[in-house]
Amino acid sequence: MSHALIVEDDADSAQMMAALVGAQGFSAATACSLRDARRQMAMQQPDLVLLDLRLPDGNGMSLLDEQSLIGNSEVVLMTGHASLETSIQALRYGAADYLIKPVSAKQLQSILSRVTRPSVLRAEVDTLNEDLQRSGRFGHLVGKSEPMKGIYEQIARVAGTSVTVFVAGESGTGKEVVARTVHDLSRRRARPFLAVNCGAISPNLIESEIFGHERGSFTGAERQHHGFFERAHGGTLFLDEVTEMPPALQVKLLRVLETGTFMRVGSTTPQETDVRVIAATNRDPAQALSSGALREDLYYRLNVFPIELPPLRERREDVPLLVSHFLQEIGQREGGFKRATPAALERLTQYRWPGNVRELRNVLQRAYVMSAGAEITDQWLPRDVLAQPLRSADAGSLEVAVGTPLASIERQVILATLEHYGHQKERTAAALGVSLKTLYNRLKEYGL
Ligand SMILES: Nc1ncnc2c1ncn2[C@@H]1O[C@H](COP(=O)(O)OP(=O)(O)OP(=O)(O)O)[C@@H](O)[C@H]1O
Ligand SMILES: [Mg+2]
Repeated sequence: MSHALIVEDDADSAQMMAALVGAQGFSAATACSLRDARRQMAMQQPDLVLLDLRLPDGNGMSLLDEQSLIGNSEVVLMTGHASLETSIQALRYGAADYLIKPVSAKQLQSILSRVTRPSVLRAEVDTLNEDLQRSGRFGHLVGKSEPMKGIYEQIARVAGTSVTVFVAGESGTGKEVVARTVHDLSRRRARPFLAVNCGAISPNLIESEIFGHERGSFTGAERQHHGFFERAHGGTLFLDEVTEMPPALQVKLLRVLETGTFMRVGSTTPQETDVRVIAATNRDPAQALSSGALREDLYYRLNVFPIELPPLRERREDVPLLVSHFLQEIGQREGGFKRATPAALERLTQYRWPGNVRELRNVLQRAYVMSAGAEITDQWLPRDVLAQPLRSADAGSLEVAVGTPLASIERQVILATLEHYGHQKERTAAALGVSLKTLYNRLKEYGL
């Protein structure tokens, strides 16, 4: 049987919660102070700690620092509205989730069902990490460049929580694939994953599409309609192009995120909802804020856990993996495998990919159809791809985008020069016009 410890100074609510937790098949103990909590945890390691933040002898957060005490316990914070920000911070320090007080039986139940089997999810993340080593993919995502590894780490960390995720990245970088991977790695995976493109629904209809409506609430509303929030119950709602949502609706979305309730159009009865929201934009969030397309309060609330997907041109080393992934996929579908010649692959790797992974997939699809034999040579690539000048192999050159931070340019130049001179540090330092000591210092900074 799983054991839960409820750390709460209000004896009545502690009792009430112990009863609720007990009804879910946990053995439950209560503690009324930090001191009491430490003592009980030392006696019996709980699987789950429900932790109040304001306790008579200090802040509940301080328990999170005590790793020897916390061990493998999952910690869920209970918080009043005022300290919501603190709870969000706490998630970054390892809390599994948070509940807003007063805690309802329903909320508690849904959180218990989600936090009770984290070891299964953890094992799964381990498997995915092994896959990554072997085949260069993580869930639905292909790529093993450093920036993508960073993304996978973020996904693995956030998936187990119910925190809102905000994915930013250029068009075609894989924002929806990220959202799906978060869903599939969460306790919500058996429930629906619904994707809504806020930019594709007419502004008149979007509110009733998202929140539903009552019969007769407007002309043409002939029967009650369940919106995306209701249909995604227990699962994940992916709100793509969230900056295209009308401002009035952004206010309503904010309210759902804060209170966990919403109202159908034409109704005054709040509905409880248990949905994890993942929002995305292909705009620069800062720009969307300053132009007023995205409300600041909503942004703040969405941005609890930001994931920023790098454009494909910043992770060119993933191109060959993506090419073979897509050619494999197309080959399976069409019943015949083709491969790209080294020259074609070189072209594909050098191209700037303004449309990112989606554009790459489309280019391959087209080349597959056009090419006669089992090889895709560069003659089947679009003119834009061929127009990109190749980096000359002898001297070696770097392409640097306007606005690249100087530190990053310095790093790129140093590493490329080092490689060019076959890792001979004296020649590299001489070519760059710096002392050997400076070169060593830089390499150390880069962790090399
Ligand atoms: N890392 C990846 N591995 C495999 N496939 C990917 C990856 N990234 C993107 N894709 C594929 O590229 C296409 C575009 O991805 P997706 O729809 O997630 O992009 P997006 O960022 O949501 O774009 P938009 O901003 O236009 O909505 C999809 O077919 C997706 O499967
Ligand atoms: Mg998308």
